Parts: sequence; C-alpha cells; structure tokens
Amino acid sequence: MTAENDPHLLVVDDEAGIREMLTIVFQKDGYRVTTARGCAEALAHLDGEEPDLVLTDLKMPDGSGFDVLKKVKDAHRDTPVVVITAYSSTKTAIDALKQGAYDYIAKPFDVDELKLVVARALERKRLVEENVALKERAEGKGLGPVVGVSRKMRALFDLVARIGKTTSTVLITGESGTGKELVARAIHARSTRSSKPFFALNCAAIPENLLESELFGHEKGSFTGADARKIGLFEAASGSTLFLDEIGDLSLPLQGKILRALQEKEVKRVGGNETIPVDVRVVAATNRDLAAMMKAGQFREDLFYRLNVIPVDLPPLRERASDVRALVNRFLEKANASHGTAVSSVSPEAMELLVRHGWPGNVRQLESVVERAVLLCEGAVVRPEDLPSEVRLNTAPAVRPYGFEIPSEGVDIEEFERQLIVQAMERSGWVIARAARLLGLTYRTLQYRLEKFGLKKPG
Ligand SMILES: Nc1ncnc2c1ncn2[C@@H]1O[C@H](COP(=O)(O)OP(=O)(O)OP(=O)(O)O)[C@@H](O)[C@H]1O
Ligand SMILES: [Mg+2]
Repeated sequence: MTAENDPHLLVVDDEAGIREMLTIVFQKDGYRVTTARGCAEALAHLDGEEPDLVLTDLKMPDGSGFDVLKKVKDAHRDTPVVVITAYSSTKTAIDALKQGAYDYIAKPFDVDELKLVVARALERKRLVEENVALKERAEGKGLGPVVGVSRKMRALFDLVARIGKTTSTVLITGESGTGKELVARAIHARSTRSSKPFFALNCAAIPENLLESELFGHEKGSFTGADARKIGLFEAASGSTLFLDEIGDLSLPLQGKILRALQEKEVKRVGGNETIPVDVRVVAATNRDLAAMMKAGQFREDLFYRLNVIPVDLPPLRERASDVRALVNRFLEKANASHGTAVSSVSPEAMELLVRHGWPGNVRQLESVVERAVLLCEGAVVRPEDLPSEVRLNTAPAVRPYGFEIPSEGVDIEEFERQLIVQAMERSGWVIARAARLLGLTYRTLQYRLEKFGLKKPG
C-alpha cells in the first residue's frame, strides 16, 4: 500500500522494461511511482501534479528528456531531475547538468547506485526547503508561530505579507486541524490593525438564537433575559479584525445579516433603531465545502463572493510532508517546555513513520501525537514504540465517509463509476493525471477506463 505522503517519483522512459523495473524497485522502498511512456505523457503529468523527483530518459521517440527537464524547472522549481543516459553520451549528460538536472546516471546502471542518487536528491530538496524557510523567517517573511517550510506554506506566507496592508475580507478554507485559526491570527498580527485586539467567534459553538445578539448586540429589554444593553462583536471589533470561524454553519437568515453588515458597514443592535457605523475586517474560516453548499442552497452566493475576496486555502498536512519534520521539532520544544521533559529528538525510524502518515486530523493530530510521545518516551529520543499504533502501522482510516447510501431500488455500479469519472475529469479540466489523483487511480488505469466508457473531452 502506498500513502499520499510517500515520496512521489515520476519515471519517464520509452522502454517498458526499464519503467517496470524501476517501479518495482522503488515501490518496494516505499516510494509512490508514476510512469510516463514518453515526453508528451510526462509533460501532461507535470501539468497536473508536482512529483518529488523526476527520473527521465533523454532520448525518446516523441521528444527529449531535455523538454521534461525544462518543464520541471519552469513549473516545479524545487523538484530535482535525475537523467538516465546512454553510456556513451557523457557530453549530453553534462549539458543536462548545466540545464539544471540534479545528477545523471549512465545506462546500464546499478540499481543501488540509482537508489543512492535518488535518496540524496530528495534529502537535498528537503534541506533546500528548510533553508529557504529559515532564511525567510530570519528576514521576517515567516509568520511567527506558523511553522511551514513546504512550497505551499511559503506561498501562503507571501500572500499573508501582501494582504497585510489591505483590509479586504479573507476566506480561509481547509480541513479540520490545518491551522485556519492560527493563520487568521497571523493575518491580524501582520496587518495595520495589529495593535488592536483580535476578536473571534465560533459560529458553530453558539446557539442560533443567541448568535445574532453576539454578532450585533442588543438593547436592554429586547427579549426575555436581555436585562442590559450588550455590545455585539461587529461593534466591538470596529477598527480591528473579526474572525468568524465555521462560517459554513451559519443559518441563512444570519448569513443575510452578516452580508448586510459587510456591505453597508453598519449594524443595528437587536431591538434597537440606531444604525451604528462599523469598520471591521472580517476573516472567515470553514472546513465545509461552500461551493457544494451554494449549489444545495445552503449558503448564499452573494455572501460567499463578499467573503472570498482573498481566498486562502490551507492544504492538508498529507500534501506537505516537508512540513511534518519542521512541525515535529516545534512541537517537541513545546511539549518539553510544558511538561518539563528533555526529549531532544525523534529517531530517524520514528520520523519516517511520522512523515509517511496520512494525518486525517492534520496538524492538530500531529501535535497531540508528539506530545503523547514525549510523555511516553523513556530516554531522550522518541522511538517508534512511542507512537500510536495507527502511525506505527501506517494505516489509513478504514471507512471513507462519502455519505452516499444505496437507494432501495439499487444502483448501476458501472453507471456510478462513469459518473464519478466524468465528474473528476470535469473538475480537473480534463487533465488525466489530476483526475486520476482525485479518484485514487493510476494514470494508466484511468486512461483505460476512459477508453472503456468512450469518454472524451467535449468540443
Ligand atoms: N503551521 C502550523 N504551525 C504550528 N502550529 C500549527 C500549524 N498549523 C496548525 N497548528 C496547530 O494545530 C492546532 C490546530 O490548528 P487550528 O486550530 O488553527 O486549526 P483549524 O484549521 O482552525 O481547525 P478546525 O477546522 O478543527 O477548527 C493548533 O494547536 C495550532 O496551533
Ligand atoms: Mg478552527
């Protein structure tokens, strides 16, 4: 079984024998391997995904490995490329190095040597990422308590730095535990409003009938129990930032009221007549799929567009393995500080397990796993035994809750499959590699099924 966190290799070679051999060899070592039969297929893959490393042949019938190299350098700057050359063409190999290849290996090659080159390239990639992150942190480009070395997180830090001076509304999306609240606080801390306090409200934690008064306040006597005037959050947070967490849980009427407050920049307290001008920067967050909710009529489109001026999407932890190491180290320090322990590091074996885990609960789950390990740890180094079994056994959750129930009249599973494939292709702009990822299929399998169903890009 391979997990999404396994390092992902793209192998490009027109010779089926080499592709198969490399797939077997690297899969055995725990890599996720995708293959491409030639240049065109490789370029298509690279449009859809970012492998951790590319191994490419140079001479292929439909193009050159140099084109693959160029594409990687353009689209995925940090991904190392190792070229495989015929024994006689050292000069070409050197050209490849000049154009940015990490290394080359001559055919016929020794598998152990190739494994070593690949492992070294990946290690260097990791170090480069960590260095860039350290440097950016030193230059004040980091985000304080927000740890991140992956390219996705560094892009996010850039974005937050750029939006600091604006007061535009921000919508943060991401799975549970990905750090939405932490990032919301960082956005405030980096903004021109940072000297004012940060206000936060979890829309899912407060009963519907109290939410309106929480948000907009109420006048004395406006409802039973309202025995004094209350200032709402919009009013209190005027001049500052208001974080509206779990915005997807708001009822439709309240969505309308929030939209009005944002558009008119004024509010009325419950039971009051006075309009009160407010100047609030709203940062909203949700782990729900607002696009789907809009389709289902559960979330107002106008509010969505009003909130989504600056979209910030936090990727799940399983898509940024390089962050795992950095986070583990931060959480070690944190756990030591709060428990008075002196656990200095995590053994390479344990780290490997942590990096490869799928983390359905994202950063929050990683933090509690590290804290638990620190408490269980008998020496100064966290070992695999200190990790919970689901991490040790690298098991993915057994049930995937898609919420689909077979209706009483039954289903046509072929038709169901066809519809899923069409949906995935549409969502991926008909890029096979991307759709294959959505479906958990290999490129080849999806290609086969597209043929089976006679599916083609319309138009
Ligand atoms: N990049 C990060 N660096 C350091 N700590 C992080 C990072 N991301 C998340 N955390 C920590 O993980 C925990 C969960 O983060 P947070 O509460 O911001 O997640 P969330 O996306 O708001 O989750 P939920 O959707 O469940 O509310 C917090 O303790 C937070 O400090
Ligand atoms: Mg949260």
